[in-house]
Amino acid sequence: IAFNSARFLTSASRRSECPEDSGAEIAFAGRSNAGKSSALNTITLNSKLARTSKTPGRTRLINFFSLSTPGCRLVDLPGYGYAKVSRDMKNDWQQHLDDYLVNRECLRGLTLVMDIRHPLTPFDRMMSDWAGHNGLPLTILLTKADKLKNGPARQTALDVKKELANHPSLVAVIPFSSLKKTGVDQTRLQLSQWLVG
Ligand code: GTP
Ligand code: MG
Repeated sequence: IAFNSARFLTSASRRSECPEDSGAEIAFAGRSNAGKSSALNTITLNSKLARTSKTPGRTRLINFFSLSTPGCRLVDLPGYGYAKVSRDMKNDWQQHLDDYLVNRECLRGLTLVMDIRHPLTPFDRMMSDWAGHNGLPLTILLTKADKLKNGPARQTALDVKKELANHPSLVAVIPFSSLKKTGVDQTRLQLSQWLVG
C-alpha cells in the first residue's frame, strides 16, 4: 500500500455523514493531544494531511483519508478526554464516536495512540477492552517515544504488553515517534496487513 497516496476525503460529525460503509478502514483513536494526527501525517509522509496542534481537542470531527488502493481508508478520530468543551457537546461526540466504532462494518483494525509517558489511562483501557470484546484487531502506538531514552521506551512497551497479556485481539505494541520516525515502517506493515489482508 502506498501510504503517501493518502488524500483528505471528508469529515463527519455523525455516522450518517460518513462515506459508504464498504471497503476497508483503520481508525486512529486515543486521548486528546496523544499524537494521533501527527502519527497519521508521519505514516503518510504528508505533514499537511491531518491538522495537528499543541492545543488539545484539535480534531473535532471524524476525518476520512482515502488511499490509492481502492476502498482503503485511514480515519482520524477526535481525541477523548478533552476537558474544555461543555458536557453536552462531549456526550454528543462520545455518542457519535461510539456509534462509528460499534456499527462501522468496514473497520478492519484500531490503532490506539498513547503518549509513551502516560500509557494505559482508564479510557485507553476501556477502548482496548472494547476492541477485545468485539474481536477488533488492536495495535498500540506508544508515541512521543523521542521523549524517553531507548531503554525506558522499550521497557514501557514491554510493560504495556505484559499488562495486556490476556487481550484477545492485541497485535502489537510499537514505540513510535513522529519526530524521529521511530516505528513507522512496522506500523505501515501492520496497517497494510489489515487493509489488504
Ligand atoms: P487531538 O486532535 O486534539 O485529539 O490531538 P492529536 O492526538 O491528534 O495530537 P496531535 O497530533 O495534534 O499532536 C499533539 C501535540 O503533540 C503537538 O504539539 C505535536 O507536535 C506533539 N507530538 C505529536 N507526536 C509527537 C512525537 O512523536 N514527538 C513529540 N516530541 N511531539 C509530538
Ligand atoms: Mg488530532
